[in-house]
Amino acid sequence: MSAIPTGHQKVSLTNIKMLQSSVLVLVSLLGVVLGGCLRRQGTNIVDSHGHKVFLSGANTAWVAYGYDFGNNQYQYRRDRYIYLMDKVKEAGGNSMRTWVHIEGATSPKFNSSGYVTGLDSGDGSFLKDFIQYLDDAKQRNIFIFPCLWNAAVKQNHDNLNGLITDMSKLKSYLDNALTPWVKAVKDHPALGGWDIINEMEGELTPGVHNSEPCFDTTFLVNSGVGWAGNLYTAEQFLRFINRQVAAIRHADSTALVTAGSSAQRAQVDQTQWNDRNLYSDTCLVKAGQESLGTLTFYSTHTYDWQGHFSQDSPFKHSFADYHFDKPLVVAEFNSVHGEGMTIEQMFHYVYDHGYAGAWSWHAQADGSDTDSTDTQMRGIAALRGKSGVTVNPSNC
Ligand SMILES: *[C@@H]1O[C@H](CO)[C@@H](O)[C@H](O)[C@H]1NC(C)=O
Repeated sequence: MSAIPTGHQKVSLTNIKMLQSSVLVLVSLLGVVLGGCLRRQGTNIVDSHGHKVFLSGANTAWVAYGYDFGNNQYQYRRDRYIYLMDKVKEAGGNSMRTWVHIEGATSPKFNSSGYVTGLDSGDGSFLKDFIQYLDDAKQRNIFIFPCLWNAAVKQNHDNLNGLITDMSKLKSYLDNALTPWVKAVKDHPALGGWDIINEMEGELTPGVHNSEPCFDTTFLVNSGVGWAGNLYTAEQFLRFINRQVAAIRHADSTALVTAGSSAQRAQVDQTQWNDRNLYSDTCLVKAGQESLGTLTFYSTHTYDWQGHFSQDSPFKHSFADYHFDKPLVVAEFNSVHGEGMTIEQMFHYVYDHGYAGAWSWHAQADGSDTDSTDTQMRGIAALRGKSGVTVNPSNC
């Protein structure tokens, strides 16, 4: 609005109104291309034209675990990333979930006291790497969902531990790394959205009594939660998530943000299953006090255990059964732990039961307990061309 020459007494009211309306037209035209492509509308994810989107694809989830972006590492991973993205594109998929910091081995940059000084050592290599990756994804019409941290495996944990327990350290990450990162990529057509942390349940302490239900984890006793270590309270993890979501929203008010829950156990409010939704708006804001720090969509992982899905698994239900107020993406699954379903059946099931997306585990297929890359591509191909699956980021 600074374009309006308010100091000129002779400018007529009509001229000002014309100018104002052309500014508005310009702003709304720009709105089509600014702020990324995907939005939430109620319990759906939609594109910038309001068309419902089904996120179909795979977790990458990495090429070199924790060593993909920053320090000019992407040039050595790029061929493999492009190979995997080409596979997803050929299968008709539209999105991938990619793990970035994990435990902070190579990004962000920490000083020796555990404070974050930047995304990298100051050479700009992280953003250069990540933007190159997004450019590669855009050419293949693939949305990337970076997952920042991982609590499912504990290895070199000191740096991440500092960010979860010390809010001045977390603030150094928000100010010196996350905010500049979001600002640099928020308008990139291939940026799908953000996943704050993979499976906080891995390092959550069950059996903690608290008069606040959001922080009471007695319902998780004997659930397997804490498999990577009984390290943090729900309040600590939810505060960690809440503050990062808020920082993302401050930099990009329309960003899609989620946090990858390991199962439905700590993500749905259903007492008949002894489940509770720790990821609710109420719980996140209670923990971190940031009103902007709430999820845009839920995402859950689901694998069978000894050949059976749990009774609350997305593969035992429809989306409507959970009574969620926002979309749910089935963000990790595979047919190795699919209760006998084929990968094609699994993708069809997720598509047909009201969920907002399906990402198989995991395209790189470098470990046990994962479907081969080609098996996963058959699953993605089962939904090829279906309504909501064909999305072109460049047309947003
Ligand atoms: C690390 O950064 C923090 C915050 O800027 C600072 O207080 C601390 O002195 C730094 N530590 C080292 C070893 O430079």
